[in-house]
Amino acid sequence: MNSEENKKLKHVAIIMDGNGRWAQERNHPRVWGHIRGSQVVSSIVQAADDCGVEALTLYAFSTENWSRPVTEVKVLFKLLKKFLQKERERIIKNRISFRVIGDIDNLPNDTQNLIAEIEETTKEFEGLKLTFAFGYGGRKEIIDSVNNFIQNNPGKPLSEEDMESCLYRPEIGDVDLLIRTGGDHRISNYLLWQVAYAELYFSQTKWPEFSANEFQCICENFMSRERRFGSVSATDCLGSSKKSAASNLKVLGTK
Ligand code: FPP
Repeated sequence: MNSEENKKLKHVAIIMDGNGRWAQERNHPRVWGHIRGSQVVSSIVQAADDCGVEALTLYAFSTENWSRPVTEVKVLFKLLKKFLQKERERIIKNRISFRVIGDIDNLPNDTQNLIAEIEETTKEFEGLKLTFAFGYGGRKEIIDSVNNFIQNNPGKPLSEEDMESCLYRPEIGDVDLLIRTGGDHRISNYLLWQVAYAELYFSQTKWPEFSANEFQCICENFMSRERRFGSVSATDCLGSSKKSAASNLKVLGTK
């Protein structure tokens, strides 16, 4: 991969954390934080589109979130439905290709139908690839992908390319930049395969206060980073002059 290719910000993934604490700090119940947090989502989708990002993947509900109180889980379901009803037209107008990854079997039928309809309508769109991870777990995605491969290719050894092609949404590719809001420094079972070489950015801002402006600044910060993907240049390794290269090789007893 050349250095220009390294600099491209194709896929941004976000862990939208801090809703509950944000609400509690203001003496409100946690669900109020989710309601305010859901109102931020569309401005960040727009900001990603404006920055020329090709794929944006948002962590809206993890497999671990099932252990939250039923009321909180139901509020999150309702917010997803409301978001989709409100944003459907804009998604279509902006040629956004929308998908949900994760297990949505427990969502109400009307929400599942709405998701299926938007996915079908937008599947050929060439704009931003917007993915909501809902009922999602990174380990489960890896296990599902391996099982899918084994079932379709009995006896064949699994390669990295095979694995990638069996992920829930293969076309979004590796994550270039993973942002987590809310001040914690964890990956939380998110896109475990895809974040292997991601740049990580941890923001102190709690999700309901995250803004398009901060998103843009983080993207600019990404552009200033050097991504080496584990490699270094030959001149950095031995020294740029013939003399220093020769003397370093001499110390090692190598010519
Ligand atoms: C983490 O906050 C956030 C979630 C578990 C869900 C993220 C959901 C939204 C942003 C709103 C839903 C929006 C849509 C469109 C589905 P937390 O409750 O873990 O916060 P805490 O770390 O402060 O407890």
